[in-house]
Amino acid sequence: MRNELTDRLGLEYPIIQAPMAGGVTTSELVAAVSNKGALGMIGAGYMSPSGLRDQIRDIKKRTSNLFGINLFVPSPFSSTQEDIQHAQELLKPFRTQLKLEEQEINIPDCEQEAETFAQLIDIVLEEKIGVCSFTFGLPSGEVIKRLKAHGVVLIGTAATVREAIEAERSGMDMVVVQGCEAGGHRGAFLPDAKESMIGLMSLIPQAVDSIEIPVIAAGGIMDGRALMAARCLGAKGVMMGTAFLTCSESGASSVHKKAVLEAREDEIVMTRAFSGKWARGVHNRFIEEMKHSQLDVPVFPVQNTLTKAIRSASSSQGNPDCMSLWSGQSPMLAKEQTAAQLIDSVTEQAQRILNW
Ligand SMILES: Cc1cc2nc3c(=O)[nH]c(=O)nc-3n(C[C@H](O)[C@H](O)[C@H](O)COP(=O)(O)O)c2cc1C
Repeated sequence: MRNELTDRLGLEYPIIQAPMAGGVTTSELVAAVSNKGALGMIGAGYMSPSGLRDQIRDIKKRTSNLFGINLFVPSPFSSTQEDIQHAQELLKPFRTQLKLEEQEINIPDCEQEAETFAQLIDIVLEEKIGVCSFTFGLPSGEVIKRLKAHGVVLIGTAATVREAIEAERSGMDMVVVQGCEAGGHRGAFLPDAKESMIGLMSLIPQAVDSIEIPVIAAGGIMDGRALMAARCLGAKGVMMGTAFLTCSESGASSVHKKAVLEAREDEIVMTRAFSGKWARGVHNRFIEEMKHSQLDVPVFPVQNTLTKAIRSASSSQGNPDCMSLWSGQSPMLAKEQTAAQLIDSVTEQAQRILNW
């Protein structure tokens, strides 16, 4: 299973555990994956600089193998007072149902986001992290140059061939092509990409034919069959999210894990109601009731901030109705197991297919 991707990253297997921001990618999960010869990744999208540093140091105690960091690339956003007021009105019934007090909400601002991003980049360098991946866009040429000068392997995220070409042009060393099957937020960053929703089977070979850098496939990959299918289409490796989310080391709440483990494939839907950015997860009451107003809510990260207390209260009350239960389109293949058992079963199945 060795190739230029595994050689460059010093991996035994061409498997990358998807970075999953919001507490899923615990130190236990990242270290277990890296210790097993795959690549563990921290989803640092919502982290503070000090939180990221603490987690990096914790993981270094658990593994001497390579692991990576994933960051959200900030882009300018704006929302008016009226937009926010309207969104708050839409959210009011959920706050009432969850018995949530009205709270002061600090609306994020672009400059603050850019400042935090710069600090997170400094930590990647100071802590000598070997791999850094990006979603929601590509960092500036200056940031790319700085990271590359320190030998950091850079991975972009693309939901279209055009975005994969853009990632290569910018200087990314590898690119994750994210099919529309993928759980969580769409990494798309060019205008129109959100409308197209390209399936992974179409996206991989067209991206592979259009760029030189290694392509990593993401979206609905749960087992050795999908790993081999992605490899046959030209991907050099796979990134798996949902499959790792239900592992015992994952920090997803038990309510989230249960919802994914019990979901059918046709219950997995797209919504922008939770965060203002399109994302895929298990259908629930919040998604249903916001279905007709989701296009009117403020953009990411504003809506994400407005729904934060609702999502947290729902989770702490053990109630899946108002949580963002992110999942890819293959929940019926998700299992309760350790990360090592998942990697063993994926690689053993792939090996059996190779030996046919
Ligand atoms: C709970 C969850 C959180 C995610 N968070 C991130 C993230 O922080 N950064 C990122 O680049 N991708 C994130 N993703 C998307 C994954 O990187 C990947 O594209 C996706 O999980 C692949 O589809 P799968 O879940 O079917 O394996 C997330 C996915 C899930 C399920």
